[in-house]
Amino acid sequence: MPSENHSAETAGPRVLFVCLGNICRSPAAEGVFRALMPEARTDSAGTSSWHVGEPPYGAMQQAAHARGVDLSDLRARQFTRADFDRFDLIVVMDDDNREAVEDLRPSDSATPVRLFTDYAPDSGASYVPDPYYTRDFDGVLDLIEEAAAGLKAALS
Ligand code: 4NP
Repeated sequence: MPSENHSAETAGPRVLFVCLGNICRSPAAEGVFRALMPEARTDSAGTSSWHVGEPPYGAMQQAAHARGVDLSDLRARQFTRADFDRFDLIVVMDDDNREAVEDLRPSDSATPVRLFTDYAPDSGASYVPDPYYTRDFDGVLDLIEEAAAGLKAALS
C-alpha cells in the first residue's frame, strides 16, 4: 500500500476546505482551488449540519460564476472525524471552524489544520469573513483567490 505521501505525490494532495454552513466560503474555496490546481483532490464540508444536501448559496454561485468558477455540482455535507484520515490537509475559514474541527480530532491523527488566510499573508486578513452575513460576495472571492494561489504555491 502506498504511503500517504506517495499517494499525494502521484495523485495530487487531498485538501478539505471547511466553514460553518458549507454553502458560501468553503464551496467557493473548493471551486476556486480546484480550477487552479486540478490535480489536487478537493472537497468541502461544514462544521454544522444546517445545510446538508444543499447546493452553494445562490448569490455565492452567481458571484463565482461571474469569474468563471462553477460551483453548481457541489452539495453541502457535515465535517466528520473520519475526514482527518481522508485528507492530507484541512483548511478552515476562521477560528471557530478550527475549534470545531479540532474538537473532533482523533487522538492518533497528525493531519494539519490551517487557516486559509495563512496562505494570503499580504491580505492582512486573519479569517475569511462570512458573506452570508456581510453580503460582500466579491470581496470574499478576492480573498479566496489570493489564498488559493498561495495554497497552490505551498503545495507545489
Ligand atoms: P458559510 O456561511 O459558513 O460560509 O457557508 C454560512 C451560511 C449559512 C449560515 C451560516 C454561515 N447559516 O446560519 O445558515
